[in-house]
Amino acid sequence: MRKKIVAGNWKCNTNLQEGIELAKAVDTLVAKEAADDVVVVLGVPFTHLSKVVESVNTNRIGVSAQNCAAEAKGAFTGEVSAEMVKSTGAEYVILGHSERREYYGETSETLNKKLALALKNGLTPIYCCGESLEVREAEAQNEFVKKQLEETIFNLPESDFRKLVIAYEPIWAIGTGKTASSEQAQEIHAFIRSTIAAKFGDEVAEETSILYGGSCKPSNAKELFANKDVDGGLIGGAALKAEDFLGIINGF
Ligand code: PGA
Repeated sequence: MRKKIVAGNWKCNTNLQEGIELAKAVDTLVAKEAADDVVVVLGVPFTHLSKVVESVNTNRIGVSAQNCAAEAKGAFTGEVSAEMVKSTGAEYVILGHSERREYYGETSETLNKKLALALKNGLTPIYCCGESLEVREAEAQNEFVKKQLEETIFNLPESDFRKLVIAYEPIWAIGTGKTASSEQAQEIHAFIRSTIAAKFGDEVAEETSILYGGSCKPSNAKELFANKDVDGGLIGGAALKAEDFLGIINGF
C-alpha cells in the first residue's frame, strides 16, 4: 500500500523562534488528533532543521529541507549539502520546486545531481513537477510533466525511484488561491502514474505516492484526497498555521 503523506513547505517564512513554535504546535495537534496512517512532514528552512528535529516527535513527524546543493562539498559559498541536511536528523528534501526552477534557474541537469546526492545520503526526495498557466491553457500539461519526469527521475535506477515521493504542483495554483479542480488533479495524477507504470511497471507505479500541491487548504483537502490517485498534499501557505495544517491532514 502506498503511503498517504501531507508535507508542509514553509518556504522562506518564520524566523527560528517562530518556526520552533509552529513545529511544536503541529507536533501537539498531530499527536492528539491526526490519523496514524498519514505520514506528516515539515519542510523548513535550513536554519531551522536541527531545532525542529529536536522539537517534534520524529517517530511521528518527518523533517525536510526545501533544497540541497548539487555538489557534495567544497568551495561553494552559501550552499548546504545533502550530507549536511542528513546530519541534522532531517529525512526528506524537497527538490525541483517550481520556485527553484523559475527564480534560481534550476535545470534538469542540476536536479539530477541533487537527486543523486540526496539519495546517496539517505534522504527521501520529494520531487516536484508541474506546468505553468500557459502550458495548461495550451492543454499541453501531460507532455510537459512527462518531459520533466523523463529528464530527471526516470533516469534513476528502479531501486532509487522507489524511494521517491512525487509532488504535482501546477504553477498556476501555487499561492494563487486557485486550486486545480478535483477532476483536474485526478486526471493528471492518473496520467503521471500511467507514465511511471510504462517506465517501471505497474507495481512500482502503484507504490509511488503522488501528492498534490497548489492552494490546498482544509476546505478543499477532503475532495482532493478522495481521488484514487491523489495520495496527499504538499502544502505552502496553509502549512504556516498549525490548525489549518491539521485540518488538511484530517482531509483523509
Ligand atoms: P501553496 O504552495 O499551498 O501556498 O499554494 C504550495 C507549494 O508551493 O508547495
